[in-house]
Amino acid sequence: MTLRDDVATPALECRGLSKRYGTGRIVLAQLDFTLAAGEFVAIMGDSGVGKSTLLNLIAGLDRADSGSVMIDGRAVEQLDDNAATRLRRQKLGFVFQAFHVLPHLTLAQNVALPLLLNDLPMASALDMLAAVGLGGRGDDFPRELSGGELQRVAIARALVHRPTLLLADEPTGNLDPATAHDVLGLFRAQSKATGAATIMVTHSEAAAAVADRVLILSDGGLHAAPDKTANAAHAATRSIDDAR
Ligand SMILES: Nc1ncnc2c1ncn2[C@@H]1O[C@H](COP(=O)(O)OP(=O)(O)O)[C@@H](O)[C@H]1O
Ligand SMILES: [Mg+2]
Repeated sequence: MTLRDDVATPALECRGLSKRYGTGRIVLAQLDFTLAAGEFVAIMGDSGVGKSTLLNLIAGLDRADSGSVMIDGRAVEQLDDNAATRLRRQKLGFVFQAFHVLPHLTLAQNVALPLLLNDLPMASALDMLAAVGLGGRGDDFPRELSGGELQRVAIARALVHRPTLLLADEPTGNLDPATAHDVLGLFRAQSKATGAATIMVTHSEAAAAVADRVLILSDGGLHAAPDKTANAAHAATRSIDDAR
């Protein structure tokens, strides 16, 4: 290990993460995962394998049965509820497939929410809107926007407070291919520009191809997808499964 590896704090470390719902099958089994600061990882895997479960455990939207989640060097489960909430509010951004932009707030107000919650100056909301190609649209309401534009607002909102860790669950899954391509480019560019380490869950080979590293979730754990051939083979298996 080099000195540099030694001192750099990973954006995220999951150790021995396990989860099953009720008496159902085990979804995650002793999962280990380390994400370096600023790294962009794509996670793929069959439907129902536990990708959203993993993101929810990392984001604190659900609780693991055992194991630990360290965000920017701090073990979330060792914090009291208030401290854990504060850590997530400061350190995390989340982009959902279904956008989750609030309809009664303007675009600027939507993007400003994490700033408000973190007691940060509001001015950067407009800069962030401009960065996602929606400069001058701050006073518009979400109902006036296309799906691609709504996801741009969601991306701006997820990054405006400069989180350490950006989580995205199929962020281009509700978009047509051309729009998905544009939004994906913007998503990656903005995540890199703000320095957020990013986990993107995706079904799309094209989307996964922009990642620094591609992992497959299967049998409760994450496995390296060593090359494009492996990815293509996985996609072929999946489409065969889907056709059954
Ligand atoms: N709240 C829940 N209660 C019970 N079972 C759940 C719940 N959420 C997910 N599951 C089950 O856990 C498994 C993994 O789900 P999920 O993480 O949503 O998969 P993915 O995102 O990979 O499609 C599935 O079998 C799903 O039915
Ligand atoms: Mg899912």
